[in-house]
Amino acid sequence: MSKNITAIYPGTFDPITLGHIDIINRAANIFDNVIVTLAVNTAKKPLFTLDERLEMMHDAVDRFENVWVAHFDGLLVDFARSNNACVIIRGLRAISDFEYEFQMALMNKKLAGEITTVFLMPNEKYTYLNSTIVKSVAKFHGNIDAFVTKLVAAKLHQKFTA
Ligand code: COA
Repeated sequence: MSKNITAIYPGTFDPITLGHIDIINRAANIFDNVIVTLAVNTAKKPLFTLDERLEMMHDAVDRFENVWVAHFDGLLVDFARSNNACVIIRGLRAISDFEYEFQMALMNKKLAGEITTVFLMPNEKYTYLNSTIVKSVAKFHGNIDAFVTKLVAAKLHQKFTA
């Protein structure tokens, strides 16, 4: 009997970058279904509203047949359970990510032992990327075309010229 495995890829996505999309592409090639899910309540103060971030995420994953966009408020493992997901995807870009990711994965395992965190490495060209660094380049009108989709680049441009 073949298994139907759903994986979730959580994050703040403020905004989604090509590094995130690289991980989504890898996950979509491994798992049957991938839910890219935005965590509404994190300690971060996002630049983009929830709706703006979801719009950019939808646009970015449109080409994948087995990828969906969602958002959640509360515990990640509760969201995973209610969507019958048994895998949490996290990207590991550099060794500096490891400690934080390891702590989260262990806590999630403690909370929900049936859910497994799977770490995927993005292409090396994205290892230095995060949403904050992209926003800071955009803020000073640097070229961000190599880091984000056309829609995200346009939205960042709008934010910083408004
Ligand atoms: N390419 C580019 N950037 C990447 C990346 C990749 N492949 N992978 C991660 N990043 C960046 C993100 O852009 C983000 O950058 P920023 O800090 O500049 O915004 C940073 O690395 C990591 O953020 P992200 O992946 O969005 O995770 P997060 O740390 O913001 O969110 C959650 C972590 C949402 C998964 C976590 O807070 C959570 O699960 N919250 C729900 C509550 C809960 O269950 N808590 C208990 C968990 S133990």
